[in-house]
Amino acid sequence: MSFPENFLWGGATSAHQFEGGYNLGGRGLANTDYLTSGNRKNPRRITLKLQNGERYDAVKSFHGVKIPDGAVGEVYEDTYYPSHNAVDFYHRYKEDIRLMAGMGLKCFRMSISWSRIFPKGDEEEPNEEGLAFYEDVFKECRRYGIEPLVTICHFDMPAYLSQTYGGWMNRKTVGFFEHYARTVMTRYKGLVRYWLTFNEVNILDDYECTGSTEHGMYAKYQVHHHIFLASAKAVIAAHEIDPEFKVGMMEANFYWYPETCNPMDSLRRIELSREWRDYAIDIQVRGYYPNYLKKLLERNHIELKTEPGDDEILLKGKVDFLGFSYYNTSVATTRVDAEETGGNVISAIRNPYLKDSEWGWQTDPVGLRVILNDLYDKYQVPLFVVENGLGAVDHMENGQIIDDYRINYFHDHFVQMKDAVELDGVPVMGYTSWGVIDLVSNSGGEMDKRYGFIYVDMDNEGNGSKDRIVKKSYGYIKQVYESNGEDLEIRKEYNVYE
Ligand code: BG6
Repeated sequence: MSFPENFLWGGATSAHQFEGGYNLGGRGLANTDYLTSGNRKNPRRITLKLQNGERYDAVKSFHGVKIPDGAVGEVYEDTYYPSHNAVDFYHRYKEDIRLMAGMGLKCFRMSISWSRIFPKGDEEEPNEEGLAFYEDVFKECRRYGIEPLVTICHFDMPAYLSQTYGGWMNRKTVGFFEHYARTVMTRYKGLVRYWLTFNEVNILDDYECTGSTEHGMYAKYQVHHHIFLASAKAVIAAHEIDPEFKVGMMEANFYWYPETCNPMDSLRRIELSREWRDYAIDIQVRGYYPNYLKKLLERNHIELKTEPGDDEILLKGKVDFLGFSYYNTSVATTRVDAEETGGNVISAIRNPYLKDSEWGWQTDPVGLRVILNDLYDKYQVPLFVVENGLGAVDHMENGQIIDDYRINYFHDHFVQMKDAVELDGVPVMGYTSWGVIDLVSNSGGEMDKRYGFIYVDMDNEGNGSKDRIVKKSYGYIKQVYESNGEDLEIRKEYNVYE
């Protein structure tokens, strides 16, 4: 057998893209609830109220949206907000989990909406209705032998924490998060064993994720310092609550190939990797700030506000495993005229050896093997591919979605992951594809960009029955998952529509 018997084959989602029920069960507003829909031509926006009472829509962009002083998030009646109902997992979780079980899923990655448990974020007592909702979800998973993998924070935070405390810029948020993490881990002990602290921790710079309106290098690293502390405290708490818990970090994995053998391209590769990726892994897996980051802060006269004991917390709160998302690779070059292309979170440099997805993200199956080896060589902890998938437009014909492009994509990635496990001996704990069921795209706020093996009848503006319809890829994934990755061969037909 190539994959270990307990390999966690699964699918991944996040609350603000999947769950809905934004004002039900005592849930408070989250920053992500101010995000509008969008599409390839029109970016998503965050709707705000200015101090003078006027409406202001700020374009969502990574690297910090400029939020005018004193502006606060506001929900407007005439605007469609995808997170409010999303694809309604809130009401359909039983059907969804049954469908997932039907395709042989062993693991379901989902996130808890922080403001469903602590509507404002700074309360002492949690919202029981919110806790009960997730308890039911986890019990339903267990009924089918599905192991939940829970992200404690996937881009969202209670809006109140952002507006009252300035989000992660304020050290108090570390304490609020620790309380939240302890609450859910204590409550779900026995139901959940695998946890991730923060989704894509290395790119948490958007306003909705940080809750902070401050910009620049100091703000970035101060916010991140607080998040790293919060994560470490959650890991420490987890090990106290249940020594069997396994807690991982989750990073957006970026990887650059040097464009040429010009040594400068290799140096550039190291710099980019440190800037965007390595520092977060170094801190969360090794437990301390790497020298290059200390030097960078020093050179820029940045003195982070820390407290005695922070170093010990980071060291004690090292994660048990390294989870990552993987969508595309990029190229490191010193050329200033290199052609840019799309990519997850940050844009990439075009690689002539790779193909573009419909959204211009260059897919790179071999890159997955490269990255698994690279990460394991460097960090020597178990790895978990917690996101990987193809965002594509699906077409329904005669009630069927024949998504051969998606089947090919997964086949090619599975082959590479198998080689990494079987030939290179990389310890991979599991693989959860992104968006097992179609959900709202994070960057675009649209439904056109579909990732699931199960289609959801809903358009970019939220119209549609939200009914679930399996795609052809459902059959392929079932074959792979049920054979524990032994049978990767693509068959011509799958009888998912019988
Ligand atoms: C990751 C996020 O960045 O990529 C997900 O963790 C996101 O939340 C996924 O949905 C795919 O990106 P997008 O923008 O196509 O939805």
